[in-house]
Amino acid sequence: MLRIIETRDYNDMSRKAANIISAQIILKNDSVIGLATGSTPLGIYATLIHWCKKGDLDFSKVKTVNLDEYCGLPKEHAQSYYYFMQENLFKHINIDPGNTYIPNGMNLNRKEECEKYHKMIEQTGGIDLQLLGIGNNGHIGFNEPDDQFANYTHCVELTQSTIEANSRFFDSKEMVPKQAYTMGIGEIMSAKQILIVASGKGKAKVIKEMIEGPVSPKLPASILKFHHNVTLIADQEALSLLDQEYLK
Ligand code: PGA
Repeated sequence: MLRIIETRDYNDMSRKAANIISAQIILKNDSVIGLATGSTPLGIYATLIHWCKKGDLDFSKVKTVNLDEYCGLPKEHAQSYYYFMQENLFKHINIDPGNTYIPNGMNLNRKEECEKYHKMIEQTGGIDLQLLGIGNNGHIGFNEPDDQFANYTHCVELTQSTIEANSRFFDSKEMVPKQAYTMGIGEIMSAKQILIVASGKGKAKVIKEMIEGPVSPKLPASILKFHHNVTLIADQEALSLLDQEYLK
């Protein structure tokens, strides 16, 4: 079942999403939380940091598994997702670094890295809550539009659209890695609960397609409609093209 929660703006979206993550951790203090990178979750992470610093939220038993990582970027590279997570969340909260998992972009043995990551997800006992952003092309994690859904963690060729969207963080488009490790759709869909967030006019078209269009690997996020517990939290701008029927 897909629930849609409309928020006034980005801050409202961030607070509401942070509230759901926080409730999950309060209800189950050793939750396994799937995390995402990108611009959209930044406000959520800032809110979680604030609550943790106030003493309202305890990450000491929480485990996190990230969706993806660029191939070939070392951990200390400012655009690696490892670095992103340290800077924007982990170093500010009381999480045990040994309980945070991100694919190792520097392991060039693709098969080994993918199998290792898949096994690790299984060994956590399963993801309780998976946070997702959505790419302009409908990707979730780095599951790009394709002819089929990939089940498990795999190495993907990034599409031109993703390379262009992410080039804003690099000195030039040429510097954006061309490949990434990503959790597969099957692993994402195995999460007990999914929270997908979107903000701004730039996401309005893809949100409309995801909700109103068919389930298709050409728009990977559309598969979420088959999940039994998914919540889309999006601001008015991101929902501006959606048929109002869906917001009743
Ligand atoms: P964004 O990225 O949050 O920076 O828009 C979303 C994504 O590509 O999944």
